[in-house]
Amino acid sequence: MSVTDRLDDKSLFRTDSFIDGQWVSGEGGVEVLNPANNAVIATVGDVGEAGARKAVAAATRAFESWKKVSPFERARLLMNWYKLIHENAKDLATLITLEMGKVNKEAQGEVIYGASFIEWSAEEGKRVHGETLSTPFPGSRGWTIRQPIGVVGCITPWNFPNAMITRKCAPALAAGCTMVIKPAPETPLSALALAELARRAGIPDGVFNVVCGDAPAIGGVLTSSSDVRMVGFTGSTAVGKLLMKQAASTVKRVALELGGNAPFIVMDDADIEKAADGVIASKFRVSGQTCVSANRIIAQPAIADKLVAALEARISKLKAGDGFASDTDVGPLIHMTAVSRVDKLVSQAREQGARIVTGGKSLADELGGSFYAPTLIDGADPSLDVSCSEIFGPVCSVYRAESEADIIKLANDTPYGLAAYIYTNDVGRVHRLSEGIEYGMIGINAPMVGAASTPFGGVKESGIGREGGKWGVEEFTELKYVLLGGVEG
Ligand code: SIN
Repeated sequence: MSVTDRLDDKSLFRTDSFIDGQWVSGEGGVEVLNPANNAVIATVGDVGEAGARKAVAAATRAFESWKKVSPFERARLLMNWYKLIHENAKDLATLITLEMGKVNKEAQGEVIYGASFIEWSAEEGKRVHGETLSTPFPGSRGWTIRQPIGVVGCITPWNFPNAMITRKCAPALAAGCTMVIKPAPETPLSALALAELARRAGIPDGVFNVVCGDAPAIGGVLTSSSDVRMVGFTGSTAVGKLLMKQAASTVKRVALELGGNAPFIVMDDADIEKAADGVIASKFRVSGQTCVSANRIIAQPAIADKLVAALEARISKLKAGDGFASDTDVGPLIHMTAVSRVDKLVSQAREQGARIVTGGKSLADELGGSFYAPTLIDGADPSLDVSCSEIFGPVCSVYRAESEADIIKLANDTPYGLAAYIYTNDVGRVHRLSEGIEYGMIGINAPMVGAASTPFGGVKESGIGREGGKWGVEEFTELKYVLLGGVEG
């Protein structure tokens, strides 16, 4: 079945870039695969460096007028976009499942989650204001204003091909910035469908551009052009470091939402069944391909075996399969390279004497796509790659630590610091552990933390800046200080 056969509104299937309000075809093409069967579902034109430059020029021109549009009018246009996204949620979710494999129910959740950033930002954009200041200078007055930073380059990942665009673009547009978006080569279709809906919503030409094709060429323009004042990126820490270096040449602001290696701490007073449900929700969402996914389950020894048994009972029942099948719990990984990478981590753990409690093998041959079995490991050494690296697959391991000091040390023993989870019913432990661990977001008895109203982001090598809430809008503004002298004669 072709992509258009699956869509109610066939004009949401776009394979050209969207620049200055026009669909622009490119040279050659980048193939988009359905990871559930590895079949080519679309070929998207590559507009390369020239296309990126054209988009930056369009966004620079559009910024001159968009920044002057009142926040109330910008909110109206954003809410048009929000409504269109809701009206077309089924088709948008279909595109997500087709191009990256996500279970369709989760894909529908992503569309609604993504739209919530538009609704929140539309409102929050009306509340961008400055302050009056005291000054040491006689007869003067001081105040601050917040202004949009300018053209923003935005490089988005394949794991949330819809929501990671809206989480960046909605606050930026609400603040008065214009955007050039480079979606992941694996998932351009969701980005282009969002562009089509932005066009229908009345967002002016040049304000929202989507540029597809050669990633280094387009990324190079976004990070080096002096017309681009900020680069927002969600993706791996390795690429984030590279973009940061490139952005240094023009001292651009960077907002980086990078990798994670989330600890999931279960204390001996916790409700073990709830903790096990929490691990499943956190770990196996998007087949473990989220940067906030629980990687390391750290349990106190008294309850560790019970937790392993509760996890085994759940994980061994998870059904891997096509994201459109109604009984699928876990979809495919993004591609076969991801399957090989995850399998290598698990094989290394097995060779080093860890116990593979359940799973531990590729299902690619069995299921005919990029599938890996939901896997639980017990007894992996904390120095192994499966313990230290971001897994980005349906694999988690259980570790044991007794004292709060040892638990904190183990949780912090990583360069990452994005999300962490703690299960306990002891309020003292809640405070001591959440203050002791170095993470940007902490869920207590809660396996999911992201929301439009809350700050999303990490510390250490997990990133810089926050998305969501009032902080998400502020990221896209410059703070300007004004001093007026000679007020009193
Ligand atoms: C991510 O993995 O990049 C985002 C996850 C989320 O928003 O929950």
